[in-house]
Amino acid sequence: MDFYKGDRLNEEGRRLYNMGEVHIRKVCVVFLCGGQGTRLGSDKPKGCFILPKLNMCLFEVHFQKIRELQRKYNAKIKVFLMTSTFTYDDTKKFLDERDNFDLDITLFNQDNVECLNLEMKLMKYDENSTCKSPNGNGGLFKALHQYHIIDKMKECDIEYVNVVSVDNVLVNVCDPLAIGVLYDKNLDILSKAVIKADDESVGVFVRENGQYVVKEYFESKESSKLANICHHYFRLDFLENLKNVDEAYHLSKKKIPYCRNGSIIKPDKPNGYKQELFIFDFFKYANGNEVILVPRLLEFSPLKNSDKDKGSNPTTCVSDYLKIKSTANIHFK
Ligand code: UTP
Repeated sequence: MDFYKGDRLNEEGRRLYNMGEVHIRKVCVVFLCGGQGTRLGSDKPKGCFILPKLNMCLFEVHFQKIRELQRKYNAKIKVFLMTSTFTYDDTKKFLDERDNFDLDITLFNQDNVECLNLEMKLMKYDENSTCKSPNGNGGLFKALHQYHIIDKMKECDIEYVNVVSVDNVLVNVCDPLAIGVLYDKNLDILSKAVIKADDESVGVFVRENGQYVVKEYFESKESSKLANICHHYFRLDFLENLKNVDEAYHLSKKKIPYCRNGSIIKPDKPNGYKQELFIFDFFKYANGNEVILVPRLLEFSPLKNSDKDKGSNPTTCVSDYLKIKSTANIHFK
């Protein structure tokens, strides 16, 4: 579904946006902050990464937008951060030092899972333990139950949960357009997509048996152009019912640190596999999921790499952010 004409909403888009504004209080945000950010190579969680020129970290950029929304709609927007044992301590310390930015923020951890070596056996960290890594952003669903986060959301009369990557500097959370579409179409899941660039290695949305699923771009026969930007809305009832559902892990080949004779070795090429669940593995359980196309210029600029690599790096994030700021209004209709 596309409700934009260029970077402006069309008539139907404006109708849905107005509808969404009425329901904004029923939506909370979960930032996915458990990843290890290996490509970026910072020793701090991605959310705490300070963007050059802006002198703000990703958390500050996102929280500033949430405070703007709170002011505009005179609403309290609840914020949840899914961390992992790799990111929890630094994130908690950072938030404590800033008094949670005057927001209602709850942290909860996803699980870890063992890594495998190139022979597909459990990978040893040292003599006594195995290497572990966070279980992928799809670990969200189990963690929401494990730490009673769903109950907490229900107590606050939340109806939809906006789940986004912490690493998208332009992420447009609690977007009235998306909220309007959810209520108008009565959906379990709504995801945002941007048009895939030719050289971009991202998963794409394709429709299968009446549902949207995500395929690696090379798997998609239909050469879909709808790039997954890891920005989703879930009906809270859907999340509540998604209990005890097991999916198979995906394997991703990575450089996995280990310890030998008391020293930590950081390999310079992939030496094993992380096991990960992906959020979209669980889309098949939904009754009604849709995808809306949003302008990349307004909504997507991820921080994946360091400035040594081409694209999706601190420099591109800052430049994309400043372009939007100069248009005066991020959430324009
Ligand atoms: P990525 O798949 O880009 O992973 O995560 P990453 O950890 O940020 O970076 P690399 O691949 O190690 O370089 C997309 C989003 O999902 C979150 C990340 O924090 C990011 O916001 N994520 C990823 C989790 O919350 N948990 C995970 O286990 C993996």
